[in-house]
Amino acid sequence: MDKVLKIGHRGANGYEPENTLISFEKAIQMGADGIELDVHLSLDGHLIVIHDETIDRTTNGKGVVNQLILREIKSFKINDEYEIPTLAEVLDLVNQRCFVNIELKNQDTAEKVVQLIEHYILDKYWSHTHFIVSSFDWNALQQVRFLNDEIRIGVLTETDLDLAISFARFMKAEALHPDFQLLTDEYTTKIQEKGIQVFPWTVNETDDIQRMKSFKVNGIITDFLDRV
Ligand code: G3P
Ligand code: CA
Repeated sequence: MDKVLKIGHRGANGYEPENTLISFEKAIQMGADGIELDVHLSLDGHLIVIHDETIDRTTNGKGVVNQLILREIKSFKINDEYEIPTLAEVLDLVNQRCFVNIELKNQDTAEKVVQLIEHYILDKYWSHTHFIVSSFDWNALQQVRFLNDEIRIGVLTETDLDLAISFARFMKAEALHPDFQLLTDEYTTKIQEKGIQVFPWTVNETDDIQRMKSFKVNGIITDFLDRV
């Protein structure tokens, strides 16, 4: 049986503060094949690695990411200690040690993410297999595909698997990333028969991880890499 890929959700979210450099390093040390992260665009056009639209929940500051410039974003701290990283800072930390699943939280990020991936591939000798770009915003994924025919795409869904399969085929997607609660053995096979990998999220409980493994999914996005 093929190995199931271990993908660290927001890094090692079960052990370190989400979407921080220390969390991504921890995920790599725990043997992650890939890390998952979320991106928003700052007011001055930087790709910021943060889950929410605002910095309120995760930092000691308040504000909307796309209304703050990078210098302001960097002045706030996570757990009074860690900076919010940019996507380039995360990629430099990762340094090809695993692949990076970049989740676009909105369409504004698509063009900049494509440019950054192209820069790392052309100038820093990363390969396409080091990246997969996912989003619930399928318009953002269409923008990525329009700009670059080779970037690997992961179609995120939490509702309609059949629609997601059709869209993934249309997009020539590498993978489909379903809410794990939607997934069945039959759907896993159906997706894989179309040449599309299956990466369910966010699978944290041991029995759920075992169930996903029994379906022979290709990868598991989890806060707890050591449970996979
Ligand atoms: O990429 C899968 C998962 O991260 C999607 O949900 O809310 O954790 O970004 P969320
Ligand atoms: Ca995410």
